[in-house]
Amino acid sequence: MTFRTMTAAAALAMLVPAFATADPDAKLVVNGEIEMVTETEAPEHLEGLRTIRSGWTFRTEETQALQMDDFDNPAMIFVDQARDVWNTVEGDAGESCASCHGEPESLRGLRAELPKWNEEKGEVYTAEMYINDCRTERMGAEPWGWDSQPMKNMTALISSVSRGMTVDVAIDGPVREAWERGKEIYYTRYGQLELACANCHEDNYDNYIRADHLSQGHINGFPTYRLKQANLVSKHNRFRGCIRDTRGVPYAIGSEDFVALELYVASRGNGLSVEGPAVRN
Ligand code: HEC
Ligand code: HEC
Repeated sequence: MTFRTMTAAAALAMLVPAFATADPDAKLVVNGEIEMVTETEAPEHLEGLRTIRSGWTFRTEETQALQMDDFDNPAMIFVDQARDVWNTVEGDAGESCASCHGEPESLRGLRAELPKWNEEKGEVYTAEMYINDCRTERMGAEPWGWDSQPMKNMTALISSVSRGMTVDVAIDGPVREAWERGKEIYYTRYGQLELACANCHEDNYDNYIRADHLSQGHINGFPTYRLKQANLVSKHNRFRGCIRDTRGVPYAIGSEDFVALELYVASRGNGLSVEGPAVRN
């Protein structure tokens, strides 16, 4: 019987305690210089967890090692591709990202605060939304698909320049309504298995579900490079996959609901380091 055809009770009964985990005291230092906080006290708003842990701490030593050096991290090829695109003129206005923003490093710090309130637009904005506004309104270029390769590459580049910074997503003020909505989604049971995000990532992290070592489901490592897919995976793509695993019908990638969920999930990781692009199995 596969996990997909089971009831929630049976599925959760199948969870077994962790075995063969990587060294719990392992430290993540990238390129011998960027020191990451992979375990810390949970933010105050998070009642279900006392300690938060990066997804990196749940991976095998082999997978962990790939993220410790940019020469070994397969995601960095995509980051390099994005650097080329950053400098390439595109669209009717004859501009490149570089003509206005200079070096990608000028966006250092942004990833740690996203998603955030966009005053001008009056809504919560993700990296993808900022990028597409610049493309359509400032460059006269076509928007990129949320889950397209150039978009994933560019979000990986933008994340990479903030690596090591502390995730610090605002949850009060104008974003509050979206944050509450995201929280509601997080604790809602979906699909035939009737499982909420929290049932797996809060109640059962560190257990195994089939061959998967369940993490706390943080997004500080996104976009992540998944060895299974040999490509970058966006946050919303991951959310969709997780809801599908419950045999539920996911929200659309890029939808307001998934943006709200992204805001809430990001805030659960406040205090961890920006790791993206991280490596996952
Ligand atoms: C014609 C000038 C121009 C071009 C070209 C341009 N941008 Fe922008 N971009 C801006 C301005 C102006 C803002 C809003 C003010 C700010 O925060 O810098 C902005 C904001 C952003 C933000 C949000 C920054 C923040 O701190 O909130 C991101 C991310 C971004 N741009 C990425 C890109 C990318 C990627 C490209 C190329 C695909 C690009 N931009 C091309 C002018 C431009
Ligand atoms: C049936 C259990 C289950 C449910 C329910 C579930 N997930 Fe997952 N999720 C997994 C598994 C298994 C993985 C892969 C191993 C891991 O990283 O935890 C995963 C991975 C993730 C990751 C990647 C973490 C990383 O560090 O790479 C995120 C983010 C995530 N889930 C978010 C969610 C969200 C948000 C929901 C609710 C919409 C959800 N998950 C519901 C099982 C689940």
